[in-house]
Amino acid sequence: MTLLVTGGAGFIGSNFVLDWFAQPGDAGAERIVNLDALTYAGNLRNLAALAGDARHVFVRGDIRDRALVDRLLAEHRPRAIVHFAAESHVDRSILGPAAFVQTNVEGTFTLLEAARVHLQSLALAERGAFRFLHVSTDEVYGSLAPGAPAFTEAHPFEPNSPYSASKAASDHLVRAWFHTYGLPVLTSNCSNNYGPYQFPEKLIPLMIVNALAGKPLPVYGDGLQVRDWLYVGDHCTALRAVLARGRPGETYNIGGWNEQPNIEIVRTLCALLDELRPGAAGSCVRLITHVKDRPGHDRRYAVDARKIERELGWRPAETFTTGIRKTVRWYLDHAAWVADVQSGAYRDWVAANYQSR
Ligand code: NAD
Ligand code: DAU
Repeated sequence: MTLLVTGGAGFIGSNFVLDWFAQPGDAGAERIVNLDALTYAGNLRNLAALAGDARHVFVRGDIRDRALVDRLLAEHRPRAIVHFAAESHVDRSILGPAAFVQTNVEGTFTLLEAARVHLQSLALAERGAFRFLHVSTDEVYGSLAPGAPAFTEAHPFEPNSPYSASKAASDHLVRAWFHTYGLPVLTSNCSNNYGPYQFPEKLIPLMIVNALAGKPLPVYGDGLQVRDWLYVGDHCTALRAVLARGRPGETYNIGGWNEQPNIEIVRTLCALLDELRPGAAGSCVRLITHVKDRPGHDRRYAVDARKIERELGWRPAETFTTGIRKTVRWYLDHAAWVADVQSGAYRDWVAANYQSR
């Protein structure tokens, strides 16, 4: 049996692939064909532990390349597609939205079309078991007022950034391919992830690498924007549950039951770094710098993850206290990975996003 995973060299995708093979018995023996274009966010170092492992077939390519996707489906006959590949950073979507429409909308469209044709070539039993799992985000629901109930799966879509609009568009395409063509799709809408291998453009790893370098910790606006943080390993177990037991055509919210304002996250990181890697210049709290806000900045996200708990029996295993400590430790223990991702292209991005703030 085989899975086709897209974007499996990125943050969540690589955690998913590594966790998949770490499963005991037959589950971990299943092969993964990993299709990834290796954009700035894709990193084969994340998958270094799989070198020479016959269960993992890495293919460098674009999800918009229909001929390539058709060939991979015909050759490997996967029982499911798990679709992570995307442009994923809100700030990049503000400075350059085109790539978001190309990958997140056109790319998802290409995969859906290829999957639809592929499904028709399968025997009846294989067709019944086939799944297309679309990995999406809570950002499609827009921003919550303080005290408003958390997002349920029935919340209207109100995306506010080019990133979230492109993901919302892809979610709509996935839904339509279920209703119109009967493609057995599953959609997950997850909150903010953190953990190993996250590229340091996102809040938590950016603050860790800046603090270690004694650089300012740039908090957008007043820092009171709220996110719901989930350890990436918990997202992976949730996705495995959705893939195994989710009902085709359904969407499942995934969250950490852990709402926190950004400034609190940054203070927690400072406390952990002060403890685990004390700096000669004193607490890294001194580096916190409030900078110009993100345009269209969503004020609050909160996920109601009761449906996945009720229907699929999933709840996060990590608390924020355990997950964030593991994460900080991971960044401290992987200095070579951290140095490698801070290439010239990374420095160009930091200059583009932060110099004018
Ligand atoms: P990421 O940016 O770390 O990784 C994206 C991966 O997709 C990279 O490996 C990149 O090379 C690949 N990719 C990009 N364009 C491609 C293309 N055209 N063809 C093939 N591969 C391409 O992203 P992530 O944070 O791991 O997020 C993965 C998915 O999960 C995304 O769909 C994102 O919207 C969703 N998501 C992310 C979060 C989060 O907090 N990071 C939360 C909820 C949902
Ligand atoms: O909610 C799920 C989404 O979470 C995912 O779909 C996205 O792929 C992922 O990038 C993330 O989006 P956010 O915009 O919430 O994540 P980010 O880490 O970029 O920012 C988290 C919060 O921190 C947000 O309110 C903006 C703020 N921030 C971010 C950066 C990079 C800062 O204050 N300073 C910063 O330098």
